[in-house]
Amino acid sequence: MTIVLGIETSCDETGVGIVAGGVLLGDALATSMDEHARFGGVVPEIAARAHLHAITPMVEHALDQAGIGFADIDAVAATAGPGLATAVQVGLAAGKAYALSLGVPLYGVHHLAGHAAVDILEHGPLPARCVALIVSGGHTSLLLIGDLARDPVVHLGDTVDDAAGEAFDKVARLLGLPYPGGPVIDRVARDGDPNAIAFPRPMTGPHDAPYRFSFSGLKTAVARWVEQHTDQPLPVADVAASFQEAVADTLTRKALAACRDHQADTLLLVGGVAANSRVRGLAEERCAAAGIRLRVPSPRLCTDNGAMIAAVGDLLVRADVSPDRLDLGPDPSAVLRGALLHGPRDRRQPAGARGTFA
Ligand code: KG4
Ligand code: ZN
Repeated sequence: MTIVLGIETSCDETGVGIVAGGVLLGDALATSMDEHARFGGVVPEIAARAHLHAITPMVEHALDQAGIGFADIDAVAATAGPGLATAVQVGLAAGKAYALSLGVPLYGVHHLAGHAAVDILEHGPLPARCVALIVSGGHTSLLLIGDLARDPVVHLGDTVDDAAGEAFDKVARLLGLPYPGGPVIDRVARDGDPNAIAFPRPMTGPHDAPYRFSFSGLKTAVARWVEQHTDQPLPVADVAASFQEAVADTLTRKALAACRDHQADTLLLVGGVAANSRVRGLAEERCAAAGIRLRVPSPRLCTDNGAMIAAVGDLLVRADVSPDRLDLGPDPSAVLRGALLHGPRDRRQPAGARGTFA
C-alpha cells in the first residue's frame, strides 16, 4: 500500500496528514489564528512565519500518530495553490524538500480538490458523478465532479464577489464578534431567531444565474440594518441567526437546483462553511426531501487540514497519475480544474522524472 504524506499551508493552518488506500493513518494541525485575531483577519507574513515554525513538528507528530517513520513514505502531496502566496510557498517548499530527500514523487495539489477529497476518508469512494458545493473563506463554487484524479472539474457557478466564509467573517466583525467569524456566528445564532429579520437571498430570482452566488449585497444589508438600529441594544443573536439563515437558504437552494437540473443523486458539501450547523441541517433536510444523498465531512475535516491534501495525493497515486517536477511553482489564484494544481494530466505525457528538477 502506498503511503502519502500531505501538507497544507494555504492560509493560517499548518496541516499534515498521512493517508494510504483511502484511510487516514494520522494527522496533525497547528494554527496561527490567535496571532491574527487582533488584526481582524489573516496577516500573510505572520501566517508564513508560523508555518515555518510548525511544519517540522507537525510532520513528526503525524508520523508518530500513524506509527510510521520517514522511510515508510512513498509520495508527498502539498498544496500548491490557491492561497496566500507566502504561506503556500512554505508548505510547497517543505513538500519538495521531503520528496527530494526521501527520493519519492511530489504532487502539487489544488487546495479546493482537497476539500472535496477529504470526504473519502470518512464516507468511502466518491460516486462516479456528483454535484459539489465548496464553501470556504475564499471560494464558493457549485461544481460537477467525476473522477477527481482524472476528469476535469466542471464549474456550474462561482461567487461573483465575496465568498460565503468571507461574508461570515465580515458580518461577525460588524457585529463586534472576533475573527474567525463563522464559528462565532454559528454559536451566537443558537440563541437567536432566524426569522427575526428578512435579509435578502441573493441571486435567487427567476432571472438570476441559477448557480452563481453573491454575498456582498447581503453583507451590506446586514450593515445597513445595524446602522439603522442604533437606538436600542443590538440584538446580536437575532442578526446572526437571520444572516446565517439567509446564507444557508441561498446555498442549499442553489445546490439542490444544480442536483436536480444535472440529474445528480449525490451532493457533496465541503469547505469551512460546511462546518456550519445550520448549513448542514438545512442541507440534510432538503436533500432528504428531494431524495438526494448528502455527503458532508465531520466539521473538523471541513476546515483546512492536512488530511485533505494527503487524500488527494492518495487518489492521484492510485490513479497512476504522473507526479510534478520539483520546479513546480505555487499559484496563489489557481482556478480549480482538477486534483493537480495544473489540472488533469494524462499519464502518457509525463511531467518529468520523479523527484528531480529535470
Ligand atoms: O475552508 P476553510 O477552512 O479555509 C479556506 O480555504 O478559506 O474556510 C474558512 C472559512 C472562514 O471564513 C470561517 O469563518 C468559515 O470557513 N467557517 C465557518 C464555520 N467554521 C469555519 N463558517 C460558518 N460556520 C462555521 N461553523
Ligand atoms: Zn480551505
